[in-house]
Amino acid sequence: MTEQPEQPPFLYVVVCAAGIASGVGRLIAAAQEQGWDVGVIATPHAMNGFFDTAAVEERTGRPIRSAWRRPGDPRPFPDPDAVVVAPATFNTINKWAAGIADTLALGTLCEVAGTGVPIGVQPCVSAALAAHPAYQDSLIRLRGMGVRFGLPYDGADFGWERALDLVE
Ligand SMILES: Cc1cc2nc3c(=O)[nH]c(=O)nc-3n(C[C@H](O)[C@H](O)[C@H](O)COP(=O)(O)O)c2cc1C
Repeated sequence: MTEQPEQPPFLYVVVCAAGIASGVGRLIAAAQEQGWDVGVIATPHAMNGFFDTAAVEERTGRPIRSAWRRPGDPRPFPDPDAVVVAPATFNTINKWAAGIADTLALGTLCEVAGTGVPIGVQPCVSAALAAHPAYQDSLIRLRGMGVRFGLPYDGADFGWERALDLVE
């Protein structure tokens, strides 16, 4: 029997609709340099002009996923070995913690969190929004599920490359 070549580990990069999302190419490039094969899942809002979708598809060599596949269609991405959510919005973090799965991104996050696959989150949430008690509750809940969080964004360096360290 011929041996199959070993597949590189597969990373899901989940992109939400924050202004900083235009820099997601940095994260993808850093991940690829570390040997990850990358598939991007974006929220529907994030697909609406927040980043260069054509450039991301060219870089990853795969279509960005944002909507559920049709029943009977094959699964477009392999199962993930790790997931990085960057940037993560106030909206998606709170809905994820509440168990809401009304976007592919949220459904994927809710499901993967139950599998033990490492998930790193780099939030992009203003101090004013972060002060909302629901957000603080969401962080506690998600951390309790094993989700790892990067430092709050201070407006200087978003930490695209550091986001990968969360899932090492
Ligand atoms: C230009 C622009 C920048 C935004 N930046 C942020 C942000 O940094 N963080 C955030 O939580 N929401 C931000 N928002 C609001 C989100 O886009 C909005 O809450 C949206 O519902 C998030 O959807 P998603 O979580 O499904 O991606 C921004 C909106 C706009 C129009």
